[in-house]
Amino acid sequence: MYSDLKDKVVIITGAATGIGKAIAKRFAREDCKVVINYFNEDENPQKLVQEIEEEGGTASIIQGDVSKEDDVQRFVKLAHDTYGRLDIYVNNAGIENEVPSENLSLEDWQRVINTNLTGTFLGCREAAKYMLDHNIKGSIINVSSVHEIIPWPHFAHYAASKGGVKLLMESLALEFAPDGIRVNNIAPGAIDTPINAEKFSDPEKKKGVEKLIPLGYIGEPDQVASCAAFLASDQASYVTGTTLIADGGMTKYPGFQAGKG
Ligand code: BGC
Repeated sequence: MYSDLKDKVVIITGAATGIGKAIAKRFAREDCKVVINYFNEDENPQKLVQEIEEEGGTASIIQGDVSKEDDVQRFVKLAHDTYGRLDIYVNNAGIENEVPSENLSLEDWQRVINTNLTGTFLGCREAAKYMLDHNIKGSIINVSSVHEIIPWPHFAHYAASKGGVKLLMESLALEFAPDGIRVNNIAPGAIDTPINAEKFSDPEKKKGVEKLIPLGYIGEPDQVASCAAFLASDQASYVTGTTLIADGGMTKYPGFQAGKG
């Protein structure tokens, strides 16, 4: 627990399920006021609010598409109108689909880039603008991926979006450092979330992924949420422009684990 997070106001995008949901619950447990953005009504964001409230936390929900400028502006307005400020913005919403690149349609390319990269840009921009206007030394956190580092055939649009998020974050960290606004990424590896549910329900595919993870197991959303709490807290007050990798070692060339090469 990080006592300095008490009463901080945080927006998390794509937070009705998976990693976003775990981050929302973690910040609520840290006594933050949490604004939960969701996209699909069937993700049942009301249930998450109920769970948070049952634990004594405070949360609001807002539907919206992170790739739409007006929607992102509404998220920030809701935080301001409801809780009077904004301290932490977590760009978590992300999508992916598998397709051989020679068949990758412009539509799929744009859909993934729009949500993962443009959505993160809009969130960073609106959060930074608000923090600058209100003199808040806030924290912006992007949930990127190990694929901001690892190339990924059949997911070239996804890897391109995450590679973009890496340099976006680094550029903004440099730009806003004089204002005391910190910007960082978290790069999760293979995590047990709905985005991966189908893949991990196949034991062979699951085993194949586990072989790529030196720690030997698929991560839990809470293990990513703890990185978000740390990065937002004063314990990370000197940390900006960096990616905190939460991947069980996946980015460390697991093929070399046995000492061959
Ligand atoms: C993707 C997962 C994938 C993991 C490791 C993540 O960014 O969302 O589908 O299993 O990277 O490749």
